[in-house]
Amino acid sequence: MLSTVRAASRHALSRGAIARSSIAVRSESTWAKVPQGPPAILGITEAFKADSFAEKINLGVGAYRDDQGKPYVLPSVRTAEDKVVSAQLNKEYAGITGVPEFTKAAAILAYGKDSSALDRLVITQSISGTGALRIGGAFLQRWFPGSKKIYIPTPSWANHAAVFNDSGLTVEKYRYYNKDTIGLDFEGMVADIKGAPKGSIFLLHACAHNPTGVDPTPEQWKEISEAVKAGGHFAFFDMAYQGFASGSTDQDAFPVRHFVEQGHNIALAQSFAKNMGLYGERVGAFSIVCADADEKKRVDSQIKILVRPLYSNPPVHGARVASTILNDPTLNEQWLGEVKGMADRIITMRALLKKELEALGSKHDWSHITSQIGMFAYTGLTPEQMDKLAKEHSVYATKDGRISVAGITTGNVKRLAAAIHAVKP
Ligand SMILES: Cc1ncc(COP(=O)(O)O)c(C=O)c1O
Repeated sequence: MLSTVRAASRHALSRGAIARSSIAVRSESTWAKVPQGPPAILGITEAFKADSFAEKINLGVGAYRDDQGKPYVLPSVRTAEDKVVSAQLNKEYAGITGVPEFTKAAAILAYGKDSSALDRLVITQSISGTGALRIGGAFLQRWFPGSKKIYIPTPSWANHAAVFNDSGLTVEKYRYYNKDTIGLDFEGMVADIKGAPKGSIFLLHACAHNPTGVDPTPEQWKEISEAVKAGGHFAFFDMAYQGFASGSTDQDAFPVRHFVEQGHNIALAQSFAKNMGLYGERVGAFSIVCADADEKKRVDSQIKILVRPLYSNPPVHGARVASTILNDPTLNEQWLGEVKGMADRIITMRALLKKELEALGSKHDWSHITSQIGMFAYTGLTPEQMDKLAKEHSVYATKDGRISVAGITTGNVKRLAAAIHAVKP
């Protein structure tokens, strides 16, 4: 453009013409053709903030709240943080794969201390669960020997498709949720696993499925493992809520451990955002179970080659806090109690919401509220009913009918039940 303008001046255009063409150059902004994207989920938070009603309720946020509706810093995290600060550690870089004491303990937490996988596992610290999925996506795109397609459940956490698309994988769907039963479409899921081209990649939510709160039972997981094996498929687990579903980190890790016992060399994304409340600290891990020590060495080298140009090495503070909790037996026990406390509060709120709806005389079957698990409940409410909840009752959540149970408190559950009853009498 500039050279065009200069050429024009050389050809002795009038001053006015030069002025007009330089205005044209300046008014064409570099980003003029960037289109407006759709509003992110945070749109709910904005609508909530703009509402002046004192008893408004926000059930859109995917973060735990205490019974006063306030963000919760776990006491074990406070203690661990004090320990980390008083140890006066330096701020040198971690290695590419992060803080080793953290990743070692994270692997034990997920796979179990006696797991046969621990010795042949490649693990790297990650920027929380999202970063773990992104490293996994990039590794699969680069090295997975079969088709670069990844099957995710319908529905899935909204970011899964974006993460895997940006990793260069093609995202496909498998059946998961049955809207008629507000439960698992187990037959559909198994049929889709069996029907996928041999050697496909399957993304599985290990526990507390987001957004539905619908998890397979242990028996169903066994059949899913068989179906994945029969198809010669590869299982990539996303475990963002270990401990949050049942209150027990061991129980919630059942599918991961069962698959490994059954000989699947899985990949796993872990997050410590929810179960340690370390959301903004971005603490996570990505691991791959390898066949043997030689494979482990090769995969490890490629993970490092992949991470180095992405972000060089991960932040240390959150990982040191998590590591302190995982490696100190007293603190670890305290933390397990606190995880159970959070899970129990959520389970209690589910029961209370169901009870209040029934007390209002609701004719609908709300048993899915208590049979679902984890932070989220799929209410079965339609987008129109969700709209009414927001506009007429100041209750904010996503249009798909998902509510964050963590946002329910003993103080707001009655009003919430009344609002739901009003939009779905
Ligand atoms: C299913 C699932 N996976 C992964 C994540 C990643 O979370 P984070 O990156 O905060 O660890 C989330 C967060 O909501 C999630 O629900």
